[in-house]
Amino acid sequence: MSSTTNEFEGLESLDGRAIVGRRIVWHETTGSTNDDARHAADAGEPEGLVVVADLQTKGRGRMSRTWTSPVGRDILFSVLLKPNPADLPKMPLVAGLAVARTLDAFTDVPITLKWPNDVRAADRKISGSLVESGSSDTGYYAIIGTGVNVNLDATLHPEITDIATSLRTLNGQRVSRREVMRKLLLEMDNIYTSPEQMGALVADWSARLETLGREIDVRWGHELLHGVAEGVDDTGRLLLRDRAGDVHRLEAGEVTTVLRDSR
Ligand code: BTN
Repeated sequence: MSSTTNEFEGLESLDGRAIVGRRIVWHETTGSTNDDARHAADAGEPEGLVVVADLQTKGRGRMSRTWTSPVGRDILFSVLLKPNPADLPKMPLVAGLAVARTLDAFTDVPITLKWPNDVRAADRKISGSLVESGSSDTGYYAIIGTGVNVNLDATLHPEITDIATSLRTLNGQRVSRREVMRKLLLEMDNIYTSPEQMGALVADWSARLETLGREIDVRWGHELLHGVAEGVDDTGRLLLRDRAGDVHRLEAGEVTTVLRDSR
C-alpha cells in the first residue's frame, strides 16, 4: 500500500490559544472523519479536536449522498465543538463563513453561499459541510465535517464534472492544502471564539447567500415546495414564501434546494 506524508503536520502548534485545532489527528485513509470525531467525542475528547484525512472510503455528504475526493488532493476534515446548546443550529453557518473567508484569500473569483451550506465559485460547488450533533457524558457536541476542493480536477470524475470546481481549476495552478487548512482553522476559531463574530454571524453569512431573493424548489421529506427565499432567521433557518403567500421556516438538516435559474 502506498504511503503519503502528512502535509498538515505541526499545524496544531501555530497558535496555542486557539480552540479549533487544539489537537489535530491525521489519517492517510479513514472511513469518514465525522465518524472518527464522533468516536473521540463519545470517549470524552475535549472540544477543538480536528480529524483530517487524505482519503475517505465512506465520505458522506448531506441527504445520504457520498462525498467524492481522490487521495491527497483536497481537504477533508472534521472539527469537534461543544457550543452553548443555543448556538448548535449556527454551526453550519460557522463552517460556511469560515470557508468562504478562507477561499477569498486564495482566489479572486467571488465566493458565495447557497443555503444551507454549499460554498460556491463560478456557479459551481467548491466546498460543503455536514454538521452532525450528539451528546456524551460531558454534554452536547457538534461535529463540523467539511470538504474543500483544493486541487481536484472535476473533469476526471463524471458524477461531479458539471457541478464541482476547485481552487486549482479557478486559479489554473496547484494550491497548498497546508496553507488553506492553516487559514481555515484560524478563521473557524476566530468566529467560534468571538462573541462579537457569533453575534454578527447570521448577517455576515447572509450577505454572501446567492439563494436570497431567488425562486427555489425545496425538497422537504416527501414534500416539494416552490417559492421565493426571502431571508434567514436568527438561527439560519431559510424563510420561504410559497405561492399562496405562506412563509415556511426551513431547517437546514431536512431539505435540499435547487435554484431555479441555475444549477
Ligand atoms: C455536503 O455538501 O453534502 C457536505 C459534504 C461534507 C463532506 C465532508 S468531507 C469531511 C467530512 N467527513 C465526511 O464523511 N463528510 C464530511
